[in-house]
Amino acid sequence: MVDVGSFIEEKREEIATEVGGANAIIALSGGVDSSTAAALAYEAIGDQLTPVYVDTGLMRKGETDEIRETFSYMDSLRIVDAQDRFLDALEGITDPEEKRHVIGEQFIREFETVANDVEAEYLVQGTIYPDRIESEGTIKSHHNVGGLPEHIDFEGIVEPMRDLYKDEVREVARELDLEEIISERMPFPGPGLAVRIIGEITEEKLEVAREANHVVEEELEEYEPWQALAAVIGKATGVKGDNRVHGWVVSVRSVESRDGMTARAQEIDWETLQRIQSRITGAHENVARVVYDVTHKPPATIEYE
Ligand code: XMP
Repeated sequence: MVDVGSFIEEKREEIATEVGGANAIIALSGGVDSSTAAALAYEAIGDQLTPVYVDTGLMRKGETDEIRETFSYMDSLRIVDAQDRFLDALEGITDPEEKRHVIGEQFIREFETVANDVEAEYLVQGTIYPDRIESEGTIKSHHNVGGLPEHIDFEGIVEPMRDLYKDEVREVARELDLEEIISERMPFPGPGLAVRIIGEITEEKLEVAREANHVVEEELEEYEPWQALAAVIGKATGVKGDNRVHGWVVSVRSVESRDGMTARAQEIDWETLQRIQSRITGAHENVARVVYDVTHKPPATIEYE
C-alpha cells in the first residue's frame, strides 16, 4: 500500500461502482479486519450496507456492547443474539476442525437469514492477505474465508483489503477514525473462544476462558503483543481453601508476530505473571492452576485448536 489516504479513496470508489444501487452485507466480528472493511464500505455505500454482528456467545468480555456502541452511527447495523443456538450446535463436539465446521455452518445460517431479509446481492468481506495464504495451504480451515459465498447466491464478492497485511489494515482503521478499541485491538479468531478451549465447549469453560482472556489482555497490554490470550487446556488437581479440587488448567500465551504466520513467545516478568495467575485463579472457584506457554510458532500454533 503506497498511501493510506489514496488507498481509501480508491477503494471507496471501487466499492460504490461495483455495488451500484444494490444492497450489500458484511459479517462484523469485532476484529480489526471486518470492522475496517465495514467502515470503508459504509463510507462508500451508506445504508445500502447491512453490517451483521452475530453474538455467538464465544466473544470476548464486553465485546457485543462495544460493537453496539462503536457502530451505532450505522443505522443499518443488525445484532443477532444466537448464543443458545451456537452452544446447542457445539454440544458434545471435541474435534478442533469439527468445531470450526459447526461454528462456520451455524454462522452461515444466521447470516443467510439476514442476507435474505435485506435482499443483499453483494457480500463484503474483511479478508486480508495472510488469510488467503493460510487458507490455500492445509494449516487450518479459517471459517471466515471461503465459506459464505457457496451457500448464498451473491452477485459479487467485495474484498477491499485482500492485499493488505494486518499492520496496513490498522493504518486504514486509524485513518477512518475507528476507535482505538478496534484499530489497536489484538486479532481475535473467527471461532472466538472456541479455539481457546480444548475439548467440548461448556458454559463453565466459556466463563473461565472469557474472564481469563480479559485479565490477560489487560495485564499484558504494556508488552504490546501481537496476541495475548488464555486457553482452558484441561483439568488438574489443586487446593482451594481446605479442599482439594480437580479444576481447570489455564494456559497463558503472549506472542510477537507481524502477520500471524510465525510468532515468538514473549518474555514476561515474573511479577506480572504472578498477578495474572492470582487474578485468574481468584476469578473462578474451579481454576486450579495457571501456566505460561513458552513455545514459538512453529512448532506450536498461536491458538490452541
Ligand atoms: P494459528 O493458531 O493458526 O493462528 O497460529 C494464526 C492467526 O489466525 C488466527 N486464527 C483464526 N482466525 N478463524 C480466524 O478467523 C480461525 O479459525 C482461526 N484460527 C486461528 C489466530 O488468532 C492468529 O491470529
